Amino acid sequence: MSVIRAEVTGVGAYLPKQVLTNADLAKKLDTSDDWIRERTGIRERRIAADGEYTSDLAIAAAQDALRNSGLNASAIDLIVLATATPDETFPATATTVQARLGITRGAAFDIQAVCSGFIYALATADNFIKAGQAKNVLVIGAETFSRILDWNDRTTAVLFGDGAGALILSAAQGQGTAADRGVLSTHIFSDGRQHDLLYVDGGPSKTKTTGFLRMEGREVFRHAVTNLSDAIETAMRSNGVTATDIDWFVPHQANQRILDATARKVGVHPARVISTVAIHANTSAASVPLALDCAVKDGRIKRDQLLVLEAMGGGFTWGSALVRW
Ligand code: ACO
Repeated sequence: MSVIRAEVTGVGAYLPKQVLTNADLAKKLDTSDDWIRERTGIRERRIAADGEYTSDLAIAAAQDALRNSGLNASAIDLIVLATATPDETFPATATTVQARLGITRGAAFDIQAVCSGFIYALATADNFIKAGQAKNVLVIGAETFSRILDWNDRTTAVLFGDGAGALILSAAQGQGTAADRGVLSTHIFSDGRQHDLLYVDGGPSKTKTTGFLRMEGREVFRHAVTNLSDAIETAMRSNGVTATDIDWFVPHQANQRILDATARKVGVHPARVISTVAIHANTSAASVPLALDCAVKDGRIKRDQLLVLEAMGGGFTWGSALVRW
């Protein structure tokens, strides 16, 4: 059976120049390099410069992805940008990206699913392509979480970083089997009852401020491993594949212990896990495409290999995607 598939035709990334190490943090907070490494695997993170916005990061990642795809920006008919740290309350940061890339047709909008944002954006883009409503979609995850951190709170300030990653998805013909290239499935979930475990204590309607990130870390950890492994198993089951068929596990980069525990639970060998948490920390919606970009550019991820992507974030939201590269 002939079906429309969303194939990945480009990948790109951008990281701000400024590196903030654990030792830098330990000068300002009651924490240590040892504690942060042992509990999270994080060594350093990037921080956007003053005047450098989420849109700037997104545009740089998008330009890198366009360069790698060989496509001209004018071929893009949809931009889906996942972010919880938009430049402004409105308009969508995606429209700033659209204008600065010189794109004057199609549509651009933001998706807000916090750390799961990239999986939600990928699911949205895939469905637009499958419905025949878009041919080339720019999917971006971009965040400046440094702007919503309480830098006096050691339980959250050490965990996050800034960055952006982007994919270009292009419509192609497939056979409707797991041997096709492109996005084979996406599954997204949410449970609004878990709001208080991870949220930002501000917003235009409630406080007329931006607010700061608040989190019950231990509870989030517990839910993360359960929800993420369920989402991965759903992805594998719905495509008739098993953990041994997966070439690369590309998880949301929250905490090395969550990555390890989830891989163990679903039976993916540790050597198959792409981890950038040590050098990027948790970049929320940017973390999955940043990890993808890293492993494609260093030659680990190759054409036709099978990837499982996953993420979980505030809401709670979570999801998975199975992609043949
Ligand atoms: N430096 C030193 N000590 C610290 C720090 C710090 N930065 N932060 C907390 N501590 C202390 C605590 O105060 C506590 O001290 P106490 O025993 O005297 O009360 C002790 O360390 C242990 O704290 P816990 O919270 O129990 O430590 P835990 O092992 O759970 O690690 C962490 C905390 C890293 C936040 C972990 O729970 C975690 O990663 N949770 C998931 C959070 C996450 O990834 N959120 C991102 C968004 S959602 C997602 O992406 C999946």
